[in-house]
Amino acid sequence: MYRFNDGRDWFFQKRFGLFIHWGLYSINGWHEQELFRMNQMGKNLRREEYALLASRFNPVKFDPERWLDIAQEAGMEYICFTSKHIDGFCMWDTGETDFNIVNTPYGKDVLAMLAKACGKRDFPLCIYYSVPDMYCRHFPNGGKGYDYAAPQPGDEPDAKKYAGFVRAQVRELCTRYGRISGFWWDGGLRHGIYDESINELVRSLQPGIIINNRGFDNKGDFETPERNGLSGVPVKFYTKPAEHCNSVGEQSWGYRKNEDYFSLGYLSRSMLQDFARGGNYLLNVGPGPDGTFPEEAVTLLRGIGSWYFRVKESFTGAEPARQSVNNGKVLLTRKENCLYVHMLNPESTGVTLDPIDVLPLKATVLNTGEVLEKAVELMPWTSLKDGKKYLHVWNIPVDKLSNEAIVLKLEFDILP
Ligand code: GLC
Repeated sequence: MYRFNDGRDWFFQKRFGLFIHWGLYSINGWHEQELFRMNQMGKNLRREEYALLASRFNPVKFDPERWLDIAQEAGMEYICFTSKHIDGFCMWDTGETDFNIVNTPYGKDVLAMLAKACGKRDFPLCIYYSVPDMYCRHFPNGGKGYDYAAPQPGDEPDAKKYAGFVRAQVRELCTRYGRISGFWWDGGLRHGIYDESINELVRSLQPGIIINNRGFDNKGDFETPERNGLSGVPVKFYTKPAEHCNSVGEQSWGYRKNEDYFSLGYLSRSMLQDFARGGNYLLNVGPGPDGTFPEEAVTLLRGIGSWYFRVKESFTGAEPARQSVNNGKVLLTRKENCLYVHMLNPESTGVTLDPIDVLPLKATVLNTGEVLEKAVELMPWTSLKDGKKYLHVWNIPVDKLSNEAIVLKLEFDILP
C-alpha cells in the first residue's frame, strides 16, 4: 500500500472528510462562482458590486462545534475549509487585503473559531485556497479559467507580486491557526505561475502537512478526482494517493437555494467506489449565510453515517485486493482473514467470484449482519466458459438495501 512514512500518513487512516465551501456567495445562494459565471455571461458584474455582499455577511448561527458534531455523526474524520475562493474574499483575519471576514457585520475570524474547535477534538483541519483571485489587483486575469477575461480598470497584473501576496497569506494560514493537516489548492498552474517554493514554504511551516495536486507546481502528494459518477465497469484501483471530492448537491459547492440533492443510494455507492479503490472521499456541504448547514444536507449526512459505520470495517485498514475477480460489478478489499465484496452495481441477488474457488467459513451482509447462502459450484455460465467451480454467494437482500451501497463480508480460514 502507498505510504509516505511521515506525518502525512494520517490521510490513509482517516479516509472520509468534510469539505466546506463557505463565503459571501452563500448570501445569494446561487453558486460559489457567481462572480465568475455572471461575467462569463457578459453581465459585467464588477468586483466592487459583488464586494457589497460583505456588508451583509452576518452568520450569527455559525457554530463550528455543531459542524463537527454533524461531521462526526456522518463518520467524517477531517475537514477542509475554503479560506478563499475565486472571489478573493478571505474567511480569516488577513493583513493582506481588507476584503475579509473581519470587515463584515459579523466581524469575527471564522477560521480561528473553526481551528479552535478542531484543535479541541483533534480533528484534522485542512485549508482550501483558490489560486485564481478575481479581487486581488495583481492577479494576472486573462480568461484562463475562473478569472476575468482581462485585467479590470485599475489592476496591476503582476504574477510575481501575486505570488508574493499568496506567500504572505500562506504564512498567515500556516502560522496562526495551530496544526494545519492539509493544504488544498484549487485552480493552479493554468495561470502560468510555476513556483515550487510556495509548497516548500507550506511544508516548512507545517511539517507533515499533506498537499494536493492543484497548486503552483506538479509535486502534490495526492490526486483530486472530482465528481466522478458511478463509473462503468470495470473500475480500476487507484495507484497513487487520491481523494475524490463531491458535494451533497449536484449543482453547486457553495450553498444553493434550489439545490438538487443527491440520493443516499447514489452517494453511498459513490463513496463505496472510492473507498474500495483505495481512495479517500471528501464530501462537501455549503453552509448558508447564517452559518448553518442546509437541513437537507444534515439529513443526508445522518443517513450516510448510519450506513457508513455499519460497513466501515471493510475500508479502514483494509487494502484493495489486487487479485480481483472476473466480475465487473464488484471491487474487493481484504483485511486479515476477510475479503470484502463491494457491490458497485447490484443487479441481482447473487454474485459469482471467479476465480475464487474456496468456500468461506461465513458469508454475511455487512450492512445487516444477515447470513448468505454460499457454495463453490458449477454455474450454468461457467460450464460454457471453463467448466470450473467458483464461489457463489446468493440471497443478498438487494431490494431491501436499494437505498444504500452493499458490502459483503467473507471470512476464510486462510485467505484464498
Ligand atoms: C470545481 C468548482 C469549484 C470548486 C471545486 C472543488 O472545480 O468549479 O468552484 O471549488 O470544484 O473541487
